[in-house]
Amino acid sequence: MRVSKRAQEIHPFHVMEILARARALEAEGRSIIHMEVGEPDFETPQPIVDAGVEALQSGRHHYTPALGLPALRRKIAENYQQRYGESVDPGRVAVTPGSSGGLQLLIALLVNPGDQVLMADPGYPCNRHFARLFEGEVVAIPVGAAERFQLTAALVEQYWSERSRVVMISSPSNPTGTVIAPDELERIAEFVQRKGGALIVDEIYQGLTYGDTGGTAVNLPGDLFVVNSFSKYYGMTGWRLGWLVAPKAAMDGLDRLSQNLFLAAPTPSQYAALVAMEPETEVILQSRRDEFQRRRDFLYQSLTALGFKIDHLPEGAFYLYADCSALSRDSSLFAMELLEQVGVAITPGKDFSTLDAKRWVRFAYTISLEKLQDGVERLAQFLQSSVN
Ligand SMILES: Cc1ncc(COP(=O)(O)O)c(C=O)c1O
Repeated sequence: MRVSKRAQEIHPFHVMEILARARALEAEGRSIIHMEVGEPDFETPQPIVDAGVEALQSGRHHYTPALGLPALRRKIAENYQQRYGESVDPGRVAVTPGSSGGLQLLIALLVNPGDQVLMADPGYPCNRHFARLFEGEVVAIPVGAAERFQLTAALVEQYWSERSRVVMISSPSNPTGTVIAPDELERIAEFVQRKGGALIVDEIYQGLTYGDTGGTAVNLPGDLFVVNSFSKYYGMTGWRLGWLVAPKAAMDGLDRLSQNLFLAAPTPSQYAALVAMEPETEVILQSRRDEFQRRRDFLYQSLTALGFKIDHLPEGAFYLYADCSALSRDSSLFAMELLEQVGVAITPGKDFSTLDAKRWVRFAYTISLEKLQDGVERLAQFLQSSVN
């Protein structure tokens, strides 16, 4: 089969290897603690499910406009006002098939072949593949604990060239959970604006922040694009629904691209999402957020006590990105052995980093506290036996 060069250069998620092996071990009867999965363990909140069922039963089976149901675009805009006091014109909102759909639309809109797309390393792996799909050139900027794993204005300036076009930022970040400081983000936005570039801020873990770190980039200056999703905070991964906020001048291009690439986001999901931002759903979501915070605190303390190095207590998402170099020379080998020997599945750093992968592993606290405790005990047992 002759597949395109472009398709050949899209790498699989390495964690799929871990997941496949974990499933095989489970099929043999082994118990596995899953800390590799990047989606909430909670079911979609009942009010959203009910609205989805109602949509299906009342014949909401047809396409919506390509940019989404007007009522949902309004709802999303209103939510920015209610939650963050930011005024957003609903005409700037596009509903997308997951934020994955939004990210693809934006790269398609902004990147010409050979244009550079700047992003942090480590970072969300699909971003480099989206850039590659549209013939962009990725500039991976190494970031570490010193920058709290986020780009800084100084770094963007240092790596910016004549060919640079787009800067991508995720906050809170996958895999590190860290949040970019608002003033740093503002400096980046101003720099990118001065250079005539575009800034994409991925806020899909918004709402899942622990402490006073909530905010949004929607009204920063310049060609500023915010991507968001119903997947994580709203617990709707399988509904495939997200949104983006863009400058008014970009909406015509996004509409045309959206019509051609997707036609529209899933209709029942859009109707269901109309209740996602209602107060009765918020109550459920806030208690889940609190539970994530308890898990984060437990896992952070346990992992650091076991010898993993985590310089920062991440403020958001549901990940801990841990330096395991004091415990292993190769994080991929470490992850495989951990799975084989004690049945704990985690994600090796090579899924997120092209520069410094072997030191790092990602733990996702998307399982109950009880299971996390079991996982930590198994980790301790594994480390004990590998030292002896
Ligand atoms: C940083 C980041 N952006 C985007 C996505 C895509 O999510 P979805 O398409 O479900 O909205 C993910 C998924 O894990 C992510 O971690």
